[in-house]
Amino acid sequence: MGRLGGKVAIVTGAASGIGRASATLFAREGARVVIVDRNVDGLSATADIIAKNGGSAEIVAADASDEDEVKAFTDRAVEKFAALDVVFANAGIIGGPEPLLDQSAELWRHVLQVNLIGPFLAIKYAGPYMIKQGRGSVILTASAAGLRANAAGAPYSASKAGVISLAQTAANALFGTGVRVNAICPGLIETGMTRWLFDAARERGTAGNIGQLNPLRRAGTAEEVAAVALFLASEDASYVNGQVVAVDGGLSSTLPFTRPVR
Ligand SMILES: NC(=O)c1ccc[n+]([C@@H]2O[C@H](COP(=O)([O-])OP(=O)(O)OC[C@H]3O[C@@H](n4cnc5c(N)ncnc54)[C@H](O)[C@@H]3O)[C@@H](O)[C@H]2O)c1
Repeated sequence: MGRLGGKVAIVTGAASGIGRASATLFAREGARVVIVDRNVDGLSATADIIAKNGGSAEIVAADASDEDEVKAFTDRAVEKFAALDVVFANAGIIGGPEPLLDQSAELWRHVLQVNLIGPFLAIKYAGPYMIKQGRGSVILTASAAGLRANAAGAPYSASKAGVISLAQTAANALFGTGVRVNAICPGLIETGMTRWLFDAARERGTAGNIGQLNPLRRAGTAEEVAAVALFLASEDASYVNGQVVAVDGGLSSTLPFTRPVR
């Protein structure tokens, strides 16, 4: 039996990147997965990968930031599998590269709706089921951008700082229930969200510079983030709660520093 044998897991943002890698890994470790995204073609591709590995996935095309839709896909997972052990609220969007003073309140509302209110809704609707079971693991995707400035635009960074706080505050709001809430802060990972940056660097011949600011001197992979999500989802993390785990090659561990040339 795998590390998630018999468990039921919802993964949002599962049509691409970190969500796809995590859903695939969760299924390989024995979970029955409900994969949620608004990108239907991407979801089918994820389901195909899972099927090739011998698993199966329930596909749900939905907006993870819409309250009615979050309630509906959470209810559907429980109706189908009669349990809910893991929710990985991972769907997110980038936003706000333009100068701060040119940004609109509408842009901020949109980014916060998807990146912060979406994860809140995931907790709101999964929470009652998990509390009834007396156990559950909620994992939120924050970002290194939520720990420090300059990894992305201001609304994105602020939304991810909010996600970090949501993991801490929700873990405490659910005290005594057996439900754990933790957040992951990925650094620079090649996914659908960042592909343009990797493609541009490859085109310029500067791909070797990607990730040079972190001590591992490279970008990360979606699979490296998925491995940490699996840990937090599993009983291996049964005493890990309200924590924020950076998966960033050490980027957030240091102040700005001019490294000696080697
Ligand atoms: N790639 C990185 O470097 C990086 C770094 C830190 C944090 N993150 C975070 O990781 C998470 C996953 O992103 P990724 O890097 O895999 O990017 P990605 O673009 O490859 O995947 C994100 C997925 O979320 C889906 N999505 C977006 N909004 C949605 C919504 N409202 N409802 C349903 N689905 C929605 C997209 O369709 C997409 O499939 C995001 O929360 C992102 O902010 C990524």
